[in-house]
Amino acid sequence: MPPKQIKICFLEISNVGGYMASGQWRREDDTSLEKATLQYYTDLARLAERGKASSIFFADWFVGFDVYGGSLDTMLRGGHQVAHLDPLTPISAMAAVTESVAFAVTQSTTYSNPYVLARQMSSLDHLTGGRCAWNVVTSHTESSAHALGHDTILPHDERYAKADEFMDVVYKLWESSWAPGSVQLDKGTGLAFDADRIKKISHQGKHFQMAGRHQVHPSPQRTPVLFQAGTSKAGSAFASKHAEAIFLNTFSPSQAAKVISETRSAASAVGRHPDSIKFFPCIMPIIGKTKEEANAKYGKAVSYADPVAGLAQLSGYTGIDLAPYPLDEPMDLSKMSQAMAIQAVFKALAASEDELDQPWTPRRLGMRMALGGLHPCPVGTAEEVADVFEQWIEEADVDGFNIGSVTNPSSWEDVVDLLIPVLQDRGLYWRDYDVPGGTFRENLLGQKELREDHYGASFKVKEEPSLPRPQ
Ligand SMILES: Cc1cc2nc3c(=O)[nH]c(=O)nc-3n(C[C@H](O)[C@H](O)[C@H](O)COP(=O)(O)O)c2cc1C
Repeated sequence: MPPKQIKICFLEISNVGGYMASGQWRREDDTSLEKATLQYYTDLARLAERGKASSIFFADWFVGFDVYGGSLDTMLRGGHQVAHLDPLTPISAMAAVTESVAFAVTQSTTYSNPYVLARQMSSLDHLTGGRCAWNVVTSHTESSAHALGHDTILPHDERYAKADEFMDVVYKLWESSWAPGSVQLDKGTGLAFDADRIKKISHQGKHFQMAGRHQVHPSPQRTPVLFQAGTSKAGSAFASKHAEAIFLNTFSPSQAAKVISETRSAASAVGRHPDSIKFFPCIMPIIGKTKEEANAKYGKAVSYADPVAGLAQLSGYTGIDLAPYPLDEPMDLSKMSQAMAIQAVFKALAASEDELDQPWTPRRLGMRMALGGLHPCPVGTAEEVADVFEQWIEEADVDGFNIGSVTNPSSWEDVVDLLIPVLQDRGLYWRDYDVPGGTFRENLLGQKELREDHYGASFKVKEEPSLPRPQ
C-alpha cells in the first residue's frame, strides 16, 4: 500500500511574539516585529504556497492573557502575544498573491453575531476563491468576557451549547437562504437574482434570534471549511458533529491516537464517514542541514526563550495565576487540574511529566511553554524530523501537521526547503495541490461544498423548487 500522504498547515498568530515561542522576537534574524505590515503576510503566503501548504491557520483571541500576576503587564513587557491584529484583515492581500494555499481564521461563537460572521466568512470565501476556513472557538478567558461587555464567562458546557446553536444559524444562512439557481445575473433577461429562491431565515433559539436573508450570494464553498480545537467531553461532541479538521495539542502519537480514534468513532456514531475529519496536531520542529546545525539552532532558541512570558501564557490558558509560585520549586500539577480552563493542557503536561520523570517547576513549565509549549518540538535533520512525522502518521493516523514557528520566517523556510523535499521523496507529501487554484475543501476533502454526511448539509435546499419564471 502506498504511504498515507499528509497535509501541512502553518500555524500563525497576528501579534508580536510567536504562538509558543516567547522571547524569540528579540533575535536579529526574526521578522515577527513586522506583523503589522502587509508585506509580512504576503511573503508568508508566498512561502506557504511554495511549500504547497494546505493552509495558513491563524489562532486568535480577543484579549491578551492577563491572569499572571492579575494583569497583562508581563505579556506586554515580554512582547508576547500582544499588539494583536485582527487576522481577518490580511487575508485578502495574502489571497491576491497566491492561488492555492488556503487561510483559516479563528472566530468566536460566544461573542460574534452569527449573521455578521456568516457575512464576513462568505465575503472572504468569495474574495479568496473558496480558500477559507473558520476555526470555531468558544473563547475561554474571563478577560474576553469583560472586554466584550459581560460580567463573567458563560460556564464551559453552556458555551458549547451556544456554539451548537450558533452553527445552526450560520448553516441556515449559508446553505438554505440562497437556493441553487438563485443567482441569475443574466444580462439578456435583465434578471439579477431570483428573489423567489432567496429565503428569509428565521431563527428563534435560546441564545440567538434573527430574521433575514443572507446578505451575500453563495460563495464557492458556501460553508467555509470548519476547523475546531478543544478536547473536553463537550468539545469533542461538538467536533464530531461540526468539525472537518481538528487542531490537536498532543505531545505524543499515543495520546493523539486515542483522541483521533475516539473522535472518529463519535463521528461514525452520528453518521459521518470517520475519515472525513482531518486531524492536525501542532508540531514545532527545529531543522538543520546537519544534526550539529539543528542543535546550534536549538541552543540559540533556548538562549532567547523567555520562561516568564511562557508562564504568563500558561496562566492565561489555565486560568491559574502562576506568579506566586517560586520559579524553581517543584509543583504538584495534579492538585491544580480541578481549576483549569483548558482541560487538555494539564492532561498533556501530566502525560509528558510521566515520560520525563522530573518534577515540574514554574521555570520548567515556562521554558516548555516558551519552546513548543503543549506541542512536540523535535530537533534534528530533515530526515530525523521526517522520521518523527512518519511515527505520528503510523501510530496515530494523523492527516497532517499544523506547524508552528520558533523563529519567523526561518522555521517555515526550513520546513519548505529542507523537510518537504524529504517528505516528498518518501511519498508522504504531494508534489502539487490536488486541485491547483481550487477551493480549500477540494484540496482537503475532495469536494467544494459540505459532504452529504455532514450535519450542516442537512440545511441544504434539496430540490430546486419549480417556480414560475418571472416575466
Ligand atoms: C490546540 C488548541 C488551540 C486553540 N486555539 C485557540 C484560539 O486560537 N483561540 C481561542 O479563543 N481558543 C483556542 N483554543 C481554546 C478552545 O477553542 C476551547 O475554548 C478550549 O480548549 C476549551 O474547550 P475544551 O475544554 O473543550 O478544550 C484552543 C485550544 C486548543 C486545544
